[in-house]
This record gives sequence, structure tokens and C-alpha cells, in this order.
Amino acid sequence: MPDARVLDAALWPASAARTDSGEIAVSGIPVSQLVEQFGSPLFVYDEQDVRTRARRYVKAFNTVEVPTQVFYAGKAFLCTSIAKWLTEEGLSIDVCTAGELETALRGGVDPARILFHGNNKSNAELERAVEVGVGRVVVDSLVEIQRLNQIAAVRGVTQQVLVRVTVGVEAHTHEFIATAHEDQKFGLSVASGAALVGVEAVLGADALSLLGLHSHIGSQIFDAAGFEVAAHRVIDLAAQIRDEFDFTVSELNLGGGMGIAYVAGDDPLDVDQMAQAIHRILIEQCARVHFPVPHLAVEPGRAIVGATALTVYEVGTVKPVELDGGVTRRYIAVDGGMSDNIRPALYDAEYTVTLASRDTDAVGVLSRVVGKHCESGDILVKDATLPADIAPGDLLAIAATGAYCRAMASNYNHMPRPAVVGVNEGKASIMLRRETLDDLLVLDPGATL
Ligand code: LLP
Repeated sequence: MPDARVLDAALWPASAARTDSGEIAVSGIPVSQLVEQFGSPLFVYDEQDVRTRARRYVKAFNTVEVPTQVFYAGKAFLCTSIAKWLTEEGLSIDVCTAGELETALRGGVDPARILFHGNNKSNAELERAVEVGVGRVVVDSLVEIQRLNQIAAVRGVTQQVLVRVTVGVEAHTHEFIATAHEDQKFGLSVASGAALVGVEAVLGADALSLLGLHSHIGSQIFDAAGFEVAAHRVIDLAAQIRDEFDFTVSELNLGGGMGIAYVAGDDPLDVDQMAQAIHRILIEQCARVHFPVPHLAVEPGRAIVGATALTVYEVGTVKPVELDGGVTRRYIAVDGGMSDNIRPALYDAEYTVTLASRDTDAVGVLSRVVGKHCESGDILVKDATLPADIAPGDLLAIAATGAYCRAMASNYNHMPRPAVVGVNEGKASIMLRRETLDDLLVLDPGATL
């Protein structure tokens, strides 16, 4: 666990670099300057890095042989600036609630490029989706197929849909489990025949038009093996739909889940390798059952934004704690914690942390970076080697916090959520302002002074 004094390009935003004084700067702006202007903790997104990764995704996936639409999964982190940047770079947007939909719309996203997910969309959400004309609704249950058909019929429109199917693949990092059946809330199972029933219901619904099938197998996936099993089963279903209903689906959405590196040694396929592997799989699977290669869609969230941001925290206290056997662990407490990054507590997620505000010659010491919440599980980095001279007032940076950190942030302990800034060509601008106590208290009608 070396201290990440050297910023590993696989983990940090592309423009993050040490200045002569050893401080981290992003797009040339020292983190101390960002904190002075915007406060701490602070999420810092590198705009060019977001744009570059988005472009790379489109370039790798959208080929003449396999035309592919790349949807950014807004759940990873969505605000109007991200929506703008990504659509400017050719991506479409996947949303799964009214809140995400509204954010995308206000970010200027063409509704035709929005895909709407969710296993329990409300009537209001479906109505809004149909009203604004979202390009695709991914239907998740028979109840929803009926509901959406009625809503579209009342408006006199035909809504394009994909049927979400589950294929019995659960994928995570380099492991995946393939079973016949799924025991989970999403989609309609292929193995049980529910998926075929769903497809039949859509084909019989006057106000719905079936575009294709959707499968999402998991998140933080490092290789293509799980996608191979999923594609095999979905293409079998597509062939069955052709044979039984004389209908050829034209789109196959294989979902998101492409993984990223959080710590040294994490080694996911890069975007070119992943795209080539998925294309090869799709072509082979289609050839196997003589099915025309459908348009492909993918929905990366983490792989687009995860590594493009870091979080800056200020150190508040440093406390040595004696462990058994004469070992000391140093607890370094920062001004945020599980309210701005729940992933370590929720998933045992590992992160890379470094002293961000200055250089030092001090030796590395076993340290635990913790937050300020009233829970002993409020840990950001469980085991890190950090310089022995870290002191209150120092700034720490945690890498790869662009996905599922601010997006999953809470107000636990009545903590206002941190600001998010974007940096580009030496300039910083607010993407989401910091919450204030007033923002929190305004919800409580008894909290007037
Ligand atoms: N498409 C669908 C239907 C999804 O459910 C998800 C993620 C994605 C795409 C994007 O997955 P990504 O490419 O970002 O892995 N909170 C967890 C991750 C939950 C992902 C849920 N669905 C985490 O922090 O690791």
C-alpha cells in the first residue's frame, strides 16, 4: 500500500498532477485554491477527461459492422452540465426516475435520446416520459406494459419500448455466476418464459412499438465473459421471438457495468478491448442462430465518469490507536465521510488516498481515513499508507470518486452535501453548489427562528 505520491494515470483524472510544491492541481488549479473558493469536502470533475472518455466510448463501440448507441447511465452522477457535456460528445442518456429525467431535460438533452428505466415507474413518471417524447421506455413488468400502453393510447402516440429481460447472469469484477433462474426484482425472466409473455404483450399493445430487448448483468465488471453468456441467452430469445411471432427485434441493449480501477492492481479491460469483445460475441451469437446483427446499445455509467473526479477533504483530527501486539493504527478524520461516499461502508469498496496539499519527506504510516459521522463504520479508506507528518489542516484527495459518490450522498447527521466543481482549461465552475443548513432546515416547518 504505497502512498500514492505518484498519481497513477489509471486512477486519477487525466489532468491531475503535482505542482512544484507537491500539491495536486487539476486542470492546473491547486486543490487548496479550489477549497478556498468552494469549501471542503469538494468533488472536482475534470471536464476534458469526461469528454475524452465519452468520445472514446462512442468511437470504440459505434462501428460500421455493429452500429451502437452509447447511453450514459445517469445514476452514476447526473447534473445538467454532465448531461450537456456528454450529449455534446455523442452520448445518449439513461434515466430511471422523474428526477433524473427532469435533470436531463433541463440539461437540454433531446428527449428522443433519453431512455427511461426502472422496475416501478409511477404513472406520473410514465406520463411525463410519454408527454416529453422519450425515445425509449424499458418496460419491466406486465403491469407496466398495460399501464404504459394506456397512457400512450390516451395521448394518441406510439411509444417505443425495449423489454427488460433477466438471463440468469450475475456479474461482478472478474467473476460471474450463471444460473437458469433469477431471484431479483428487475425485468422478466427468460428461463421461466415470462420474457416471451412480456414480448407478446407488447406486440399486442396498440400504443406500443417493440424495438428490442434489454439485459443488464451487474456492475464493476472487468471482462466480457458475463456478457457472452447474457448475449447467448438474449439472442436465443430474439430467435424465438422471430420464430413464434414472426417479428425481428432491431435493437439489443446489453446494459452497463464496465468496471474501472479504484486501487493499484485493478485491471479492467479498456474500452477498446471491451468493445471488440462485445462486438465479437454479438456477431458470433447472431451467426449461431442466423439472426441479423441488431443495433447494439450499451449503458456505461461508472466507466464514463468514475475516474474523472476526485474528492478533496480537510483533515480535522489525527489519533493514534493502540492495537493488540503493540501495533498502532493512525485514525485520520476528515470533514466528510459516509454521507458523501457510502461505497466503502455499503460494498467494502476500496479507494486510493493521498496527501494532496503539499510535499513531504515523512515516512509512510499505516493509517485509516475516517469521516465525521457518528458510526464506527464511517470509513473512507480502511488501510492506507500515509505520511507520518499528516496534521489537521492538510488536504487529502481520494481518487475515482466520480461515480456513485455524490449520486448516493445523503444528509445523514444533517450534513449538507458537498459542492461539485468542474475544472477545464484552468477555470473552475460550480456544477452543484454546496448545500447549506438552511437548505436542510427549510424542510422542517418547525425550524423557524
Ligand atoms: N444500466 C442499468 C440498467 C443499471 O442498472 C446500471 C447500474 C447501469 C446501466 C450502469 O452501471 P455502471 O456502468 O455504472 O456500472 N451503486 C453501485 C452501482 C449500482 C449500479 C446500479 N445499476 C456502486 O456504487 O457500485
